[in-house]
Amino acid sequence: MTEKGSVLIVDDDPVVRNVLLDILGSVGGYRTDVAVDGLDGIEKLKQRQYDIVFTDLTMPRMNGMDLLRETKKLNPAQSVVVITGFSTLDNAINAMKEGARDFITKPFKINTVVSIADRIVGEKKLLGRLSEPGEGGTAMERLNKELFRSLYEIGIFHMVSTELDGIFNNREVYESLVDMASRLLNVREASFGIVDNGSLKVENALGTTVQRISINGTVLEKVISAKSYYIAPPGELNPHTGAPLSCPFFSIPFIMNDEVFGILNLANKADGTAFTDYEISLAAAFAKKAALRIENNALYEVFYNNLVNTLKSLVTSIEARDSYTKQHSERVTSYSLQIAEQMEVCPEERDIISFGGYLHDIGKIGVRDTVLLKPGRLTEEEMLEIKLHPVIGDNIIKPIKFFPRERELIRNHHEHFDGTGYPDGLAGNRIPLIVRIIKIADTYDAMTSSRPYRKALSHEIAIEELKKYSWTQFDGDAVHAFLRTPAGRGETLGF
Ligand SMILES: [Fe+2]
Repeated sequence: MTEKGSVLIVDDDPVVRNVLLDILGSVGGYRTDVAVDGLDGIEKLKQRQYDIVFTDLTMPRMNGMDLLRETKKLNPAQSVVVITGFSTLDNAINAMKEGARDFITKPFKINTVVSIADRIVGEKKLLGRLSEPGEGGTAMERLNKELFRSLYEIGIFHMVSTELDGIFNNREVYESLVDMASRLLNVREASFGIVDNGSLKVENALGTTVQRISINGTVLEKVISAKSYYIAPPGELNPHTGAPLSCPFFSIPFIMNDEVFGILNLANKADGTAFTDYEISLAAAFAKKAALRIENNALYEVFYNNLVNTLKSLVTSIEARDSYTKQHSERVTSYSLQIAEQMEVCPEERDIISFGGYLHDIGKIGVRDTVLLKPGRLTEEEMLEIKLHPVIGDNIIKPIKFFPRERELIRNHHEHFDGTGYPDGLAGNRIPLIVRIIKIADTYDAMTSSRPYRKALSHEIAIEELKKYSWTQFDGDAVHAFLRTPAGRGETLGF
């Protein structure tokens, strides 16, 4: 990793020194040096230049305030950050008046220390660029250019973030992020892979192949162990091809729960130049954003699958009450999917059938056993109770919010095509197609299953009934499609 800058840490307490060394060195990416008190600090500053001096205030031999004054004599532009406890906050404020750039209070927050250092070094670099003679006009013109460029960068990042936020399927995220990253950094070679059992399983690639790459001994291993990006210089081996690199190869880790789960690789810039600081920070920010999207999607999937399994178990428990309807929901789903295939229903609608088919009778949980399992014919009152099950089911699913289309299927699977069904009396195309399909599968399975009060009807009689009530109870086109399915025995009768 290239160092962001150099830092001198001056503190007489070895524990504080080591904590700051870790924060600024390992986490922050700075080259670090230490001094044990003010005098030692001055000696170090005479020997070499540092972007920032972090100094304690209370130290033997020379305290922090004196160090600050001496430092300013040596180099008036030297950035100094003082370290203080809350009890000595007044001293920190005095130090600011004497020219300190900032102060940090103990105990430190890692992010605060690193962001102070990043800000000071960033400002120093900006000022350095502005004071460069010649190129780019006056300092003000260059500052304007910097501002416009920053606005442009923010705009690009916002666009990319918005695009990522709209993708709820990780497979699509993998595809988009390779495409977006290659456009952002203008590279000809890009891949994204998932770390899997000692190898990188490439999910998507551009300018290289989708393959499984062994991690051992490659630049990818460095990225995983350091949990930080790495730019391999020409001469190291390209993990995509195993051949020596002719241009820099930029690998960025995707981190979840402190583990590297994926790596984005970018190489071969179209203009042949090396990666700039701006491109590196843009790619790192992009990777962070994409990793968060992937994590959110994964959490959502776990939550969604648990919810789906819970609801399916509920249906299984309802069917277990009534031995006659065992696996009814499973068969209804299977027949409906066959009809949907015949009618070339789109994959999204088929997904709704796959889950909604299981749930269509979930409202039967609210129907009493004495009614649901009654061996004889039902009274009118009992019939009315049974007829409540689509509305009960709808009320069960309504609070969950995730399944608006499945809700239609649950609520309206007893509607008739001519509007004489229940509970809403919907007719024709006002009943969604997948609901009209489920209606046929449900009726066919009910007719061909034995009930407490009658034996199962034969397939042939059930088919005759479906045909007879086409365009009254049923959508005739969907009945026709059912006849062409394996469940409908593949008949092709025009009517
Ligand atoms: Fe039903």
